[in-house]
Amino acid sequence: MTAQRIYLDYNASTPVDPAVSAAMMPFLADHFGNPSSGHWAAAPAKAALERARGQIAAVLGCEDDEVVFTSGGSEANNLALKGVFFVRRSGGDHIITTRIEHPAIIEPCRFLERLGARITYLPVDGFGRVDPDDLRRAITPHTILVSIMHANNEVGTIQPIEECARIAREHDILFHTDAAQSVGKIATDVNGLGVDLLSIAGHKLYAPKGVGALFVRRGVQLEPLIHGAGHESGRRAGTESALLAVGLGKACELARDLSPMDRVRALRDRFWRELQSRFGNRIALNGHPTHCLPNTLNVSFIGRVGAEILERLDGVAASTGSACHSGRIELSPVLAAMSVAPEVGMGAIRFSLGRGTTREEIHAVAERLSAIL
Ligand SMILES: Cc1ncc(COP(=O)(O)O)c(C=O)c1O
Repeated sequence: MTAQRIYLDYNASTPVDPAVSAAMMPFLADHFGNPSSGHWAAAPAKAALERARGQIAAVLGCEDDEVVFTSGGSEANNLALKGVFFVRRSGGDHIITTRIEHPAIIEPCRFLERLGARITYLPVDGFGRVDPDDLRRAITPHTILVSIMHANNEVGTIQPIEECARIAREHDILFHTDAAQSVGKIATDVNGLGVDLLSIAGHKLYAPKGVGALFVRRGVQLEPLIHGAGHESGRRAGTESALLAVGLGKACELARDLSPMDRVRALRDRFWRELQSRFGNRIALNGHPTHCLPNTLNVSFIGRVGAEILERLDGVAASTGSACHSGRIELSPVLAAMSVAPEVGMGAIRFSLGRGTTREEIHAVAERLSAIL
């Protein structure tokens, strides 16, 4: 008999919320018009696109015209990094980021290095947090951009963004944060955070894959990645998908209510307590005990291999390292940057809970873990 399927990989992707798919349906079935056209067929698509922009702006606390639609988190990050570099390179060639960013930040940085950029990769402490003083020390007269993720996808650690953004502003340096993992889980008000650019990814917040957005503060100039007609105020060419925009907009409207996270946090904490009572000092928590996403539990089964445990955890979807680049058996760069010992880090499994997770599910996973270990 196959075991009950349990999904604990919400940081990799979320199911589309039924309210989101319902909002999208008319744009799949009927409203096909090009939002840029001037006739009757365009009107519903154009109106929906702008309503969605407003819903995204509302969750970020920004103006509607500061939201640029993209194909997802990766594109938003690429647009932020390359867009700023191409506009500002004559004034400076230095970018500061961290060692624990998602590949959608690390790889554009490597690309820009090949074009002559100098990149500083800030270290993190054992909990995965950046020290704002390290940022202060890394700034040079040539620094044009700082990019520090809001919350880490693997261990859930939340960075001191407000403080880091304040330091950047004191030096007139633009500040970007990759908030792909944080929208809908913790507050993401761009003015509260003090950021100039912020990336979001639809499929991490119950919208479909293939859509995201970049917040670009008024006055910040970006070179587009995709040149063409003047869509998105000249920042991203290509006919907008009202269908996907409506999905992201509705998901952002739902994400403004953070109260479902109280239940998720309680379940996550309960799961951790249950694992502790079963495994005692044979497990270790990776990440920060308090500055952490409410849904993420990265736990190491010491001396074991996380991927092997997952394989035997029949029917349980979770991940080792990051699902975006799984399949390799080596210590994740995030855990390595946190100086987690190899015999601990190799045994890491990331469980990420979501709106659909139940108490029965986490108990069942704990039981299955006990049975196989
Ligand atoms: C922190 C972070 N940034 C960026 C991305 C990439 O987003 P997308 O899959 O929408 O391109 C992810 C997805 O795993 C992520 O976790």
